[in-house]
Amino acid sequence: MYNYIAIKGVNILRAVDIIIKKREGEVLNLDEIHFMIDGYVKGEIPDYQMSSLLMAICLKGLNSDEQTAFTMEMLKSGEQIDLSSIDGICVDKHSTGGVGDKTTLVVAPIIASCGLKIAKMSGRGLGHTGGTLDKLESIPGFNINVSSKDFLKQVKEIGIAVVGQTANITPADKKLYALRDVTGTVESVGLIASSIMSKKLASGAHSILLDVKVGDGAFMKTIEDAKVLAKAMVSIGNKCGRKTVAMLTDMDQPLGEAVGNSLEVIEAIETLKGHGDREFTTLCHEICAEMLLITNSVKNKEEAIKLIDKKIESGEALEKLREMIIYQHGDPKVIDDYSLFKKCQKVVEVKALKDGYIKRIHTLNVGNVAMILGAGRQTKDETIDHSVGIKIKVKVGDKVKAGDTLALIYSNGVREKEAIDMLLECFEICQEKVAKHNIILGIVE
Ligand code: URA
Repeated sequence: MYNYIAIKGVNILRAVDIIIKKREGEVLNLDEIHFMIDGYVKGEIPDYQMSSLLMAICLKGLNSDEQTAFTMEMLKSGEQIDLSSIDGICVDKHSTGGVGDKTTLVVAPIIASCGLKIAKMSGRGLGHTGGTLDKLESIPGFNINVSSKDFLKQVKEIGIAVVGQTANITPADKKLYALRDVTGTVESVGLIASSIMSKKLASGAHSILLDVKVGDGAFMKTIEDAKVLAKAMVSIGNKCGRKTVAMLTDMDQPLGEAVGNSLEVIEAIETLKGHGDREFTTLCHEICAEMLLITNSVKNKEEAIKLIDKKIESGEALEKLREMIIYQHGDPKVIDDYSLFKKCQKVVEVKALKDGYIKRIHTLNVGNVAMILGAGRQTKDETIDHSVGIKIKVKVGDKVKAGDTLALIYSNGVREKEAIDMLLECFEICQEKVAKHNIILGIVE
């Protein structure tokens, strides 16, 4: 047990003692966690001491109570969105990030058309993963900068809003994440779970569905690691009074066909019209079903799937997307006329060099190719080109012949040759049959 300096029997908290305590693998209490996080936000704890604590946490971990305490401290450091004036159940969905992940654009309108409320603050893309806000901004005129007041008004009136951050939420996480990024301390389950959950809790939803991506294109490369992260986040959410469930889903190949902003919006619209890629459609159905179940909106999964099918077939889900686009000043005509999206200059085919089966698609690198074409950003302040990207035309397990199209590159000429070479290398073709991937890998409740 670590001994503090005490004056008249009262322990004097010092950052150095807390760092040593964690270094020795002991459990930190609420006061110690508050002392470090609150002190760091106020500038009383310097970067070098916080970095040292973060490294000790990476090496020794945080138990479940410590993770919850970390989350609550970060949550309390900023504003929290108060959704209590909205009638009905507010439900949120969060993906840990992947390549071609346009799920929110499909799931949010379906769920809103089922009568639940979607008050969603999304993020921008960085590195190989795309961001929902960038995708939405590929719709001409679409506004993601909405005030808190207008955000609430929109959700009350039409049941759906997907916007940029409207308030100063979790400043402690912002400061800590920036430090973790440059001190090799991002990869800690406890730190990742508390970082993500502090933002989710601050966003105010009553129920939260987490889509934890697993595989080459995801943060978590193995199902075991993904399960540990999912369990940690579900435990934090439920301890904090929000019904939270996590799904583990495949990111060992890009999601659906499109990677790149307007291409992904078009794919999402096609999916809402009932013409989506099979795996992607399954994922959206499964996520929606789980959201309906955790909010007690349906009795069972069968009823959930029937309701989702009905909302797609009747066009009500697509109409919800249209309502949101109109409310946020975008051009709703894009739904019926894809030529209204900004066009790229040319489309280049990437073809298989030999016969065989698709063994692997290096998903992280597919994301990187989209980024170098201009669809994503390497640093936070870069501008992006909404019209460029990739369409993947094959899946793992597909049989191909030399000359078959593996992918299409939508280009405006930026680093095009490099992109073609890199993309070709993303596809591994072998002679033996290869099993297809399941999109849903598990669920953590
Ligand atoms: N995403 C977050 O928001 N936080 C992390 O720590 C990692 C990924």
